[in-house]
Amino acid sequence: MDQAEAIHSVKNRLAQARSVAVLTGAGISADSGVPTFRGTDGLWRNFRAEDLATPEAFARDPRLVWEWYNWRREVIATKHPTPGHLALAEMETRHERFLLITQNVDGLHRAAGSRKLLELHGNIWMVRCTACGAVEENRDVPMVLLPSCRSCRGLLRPHIVWFGETLDEKRLDQCMGALASCEVLLIVGTSGAVYPAASFAPIAKAAGAFVAELNLDPTPQSQLVDVAIRGRAGQLIPQLL
Ligand code: OAD
Repeated sequence: MDQAEAIHSVKNRLAQARSVAVLTGAGISADSGVPTFRGTDGLWRNFRAEDLATPEAFARDPRLVWEWYNWRREVIATKHPTPGHLALAEMETRHERFLLITQNVDGLHRAAGSRKLLELHGNIWMVRCTACGAVEENRDVPMVLLPSCRSCRGLLRPHIVWFGETLDEKRLDQCMGALASCEVLLIVGTSGAVYPAASFAPIAKAAGAFVAELNLDPTPQSQLVDVAIRGRAGQLIPQLL
């Protein structure tokens, strides 16, 4: 199957589907200029995740962790949704049941208008108090290092799921429900290196969904999906509508 045929086959499946799920990763925001994690200039090629994105790292040196998130906030603040993000926002209006699950914390899906959205790993514009657990939006760029909670003065941390932390059970249940019932699952711009998102393709496939991967490069998932299309998310997704 050439690329045009592959796109056509996914488009047809989508046109008939009442229930659709989409999983996105850093690749969709790469077209906006947000660095990926494992690509050529990926963040985890230049930084050690265990120094910056674990609860232990934050306990050891919260200032260093906040400096890193502050830098990422500065980068993301200048970026805009791509035609890929916008096409997914449009897609949610076309299906009876729809869920966009993103591993991205950049908030670009929401900025594009997506509302049937589940931010699996949290959001870089949200902060959480390490003492009282209060969660609030904070869009300061730059933000003060070692920010404190408005109500209890406790130390705030990014409201992001770090390595070694468990995902919110309710959010995970919602994902599993969507994966079990969707007729089509699109997997966009993720390397499939991080669980549980890496298990979504086999789960949906076992439940009978048609699974399509859109990615610049092959991934460990490419072998088990029904159609794997190589290319930029920002160019491919609009063609599916
Ligand atoms: P990765 O950086 O691991 O993978 C990005 C994927 O996108 C790769 O497969 C690239 O080939 C592909 N890609 C790059 N540019 C693309 C483009 N323009 N169009 C389509 N695909 C493109 O990022 P994730 O899989 O999202 O966790 O990483 C998963 C998690 O690991 C992240 O959510 C993050 C990280 O640690 C947290 O922040 C908690």
